[in-house]
Amino acid sequence: MKEDLIVLAIESSCDETACSIVKNGREVLSNIIATQIDIHKRYGGVVPEIASRNHIDAITNVVNEALEKANMTLQDIDLVSATYGPGLVGALLVGLSFGKSLAWSCYKPFLGVHHIEGHIAANYITHKDLEPPYICLIVSGGHSNLVYVKDYTEFEILGKTRDDAVGEAFDKVSRVIGLEYPGGPKIDKLAKEGKPNYKLPKTFFEDSLDFSFSGIKTAVINLVHKEGDKINIPDLCSSFEEAITDVLLSNLLKACQMKGTNKVALAGGVSANSYLRGRLDKIGEENNLKIYYPELIYCTDNAAMIGSAAYFDYIAGKRSDLDLNAVPYLKLGDKLRK
Ligand code: KG4
Ligand code: ZN
Repeated sequence: MKEDLIVLAIESSCDETACSIVKNGREVLSNIIATQIDIHKRYGGVVPEIASRNHIDAITNVVNEALEKANMTLQDIDLVSATYGPGLVGALLVGLSFGKSLAWSCYKPFLGVHHIEGHIAANYITHKDLEPPYICLIVSGGHSNLVYVKDYTEFEILGKTRDDAVGEAFDKVSRVIGLEYPGGPKIDKLAKEGKPNYKLPKTFFEDSLDFSFSGIKTAVINLVHKEGDKINIPDLCSSFEEAITDVLLSNLLKACQMKGTNKVALAGGVSANSYLRGRLDKIGEENNLKIYYPELIYCTDNAAMIGSAAYFDYIAGKRSDLDLNAVPYLKLGDKLRK
């Protein structure tokens, strides 16, 4: 019997068309990402219909390139997988339909993957030794979750955002101060030149590890309007990052205490943020935490993370039927729909 499991994974939930070939959940043989950032930049954010059309244009080449780079043909693939939610429905449908058709046409099994579970799994690629249980803080453009990863396919949500996702707050604030989409990396860079001189609100909930970022976003918008040209942009970026990070890390520490674990992983686009990483490293040293971050390329959307999550789902016995539909508001922990 063949021992290795080779997964072809597709990701198209937002503005990246991606395909990756992953061996045994942790070894990436190829990782192709066609990003549409330059197309959506001029609109200040992702336009769903334009994203869908561009996924259609890109998907065939991206999949072919992933196979080529891995030096493989479809015959070498054991499992085809694709993100089926959450995300933009039209965008999800492109990768999901392509994946299902590919699996059907070459007699391979198919598995739909949860996008957020993919973000978590990105850590298994970078850290070959990482095993559950641990706490994972997922901070991306569309999601903010504090999760107890009990096992590779078992998740308990400890906290979630009640309004904006962290990355969404970064992107909205950056738009107000005139930075291009996506604003996160630009705020990250500018904040290094500033000091946290502006006082911004931080939201905490009693008896809950939930987040809320709409208050800080509104405070920044009001401040920009009030100060006009006098506003110090690097100081504002630094203050914004500090306030957001205080909230994230405070809840993260509480989650560790609650679950009695000192193992922590970060995931999602905002986990690329250098200030957040620096602060977490410091808090980690003070509190004896063992911290894991995905490599930068696996923080933002990619298909390698989907291939990793698919592997762990597959060996846990999960399978999807070919009538699996895209689920734009899929929650973490929702069972795969047949
Ligand atoms: O995970 P991701 O690619 O997409 C979703 O699944 O939502 O995350 C994209 C988000 C964007 O909001 C972007 O501004 C943010 O991640 N981001 C960052 C950084 N790099 C990307 N935010 C802060 N600092 C960064 N260095
Ligand atoms: Zn994502």
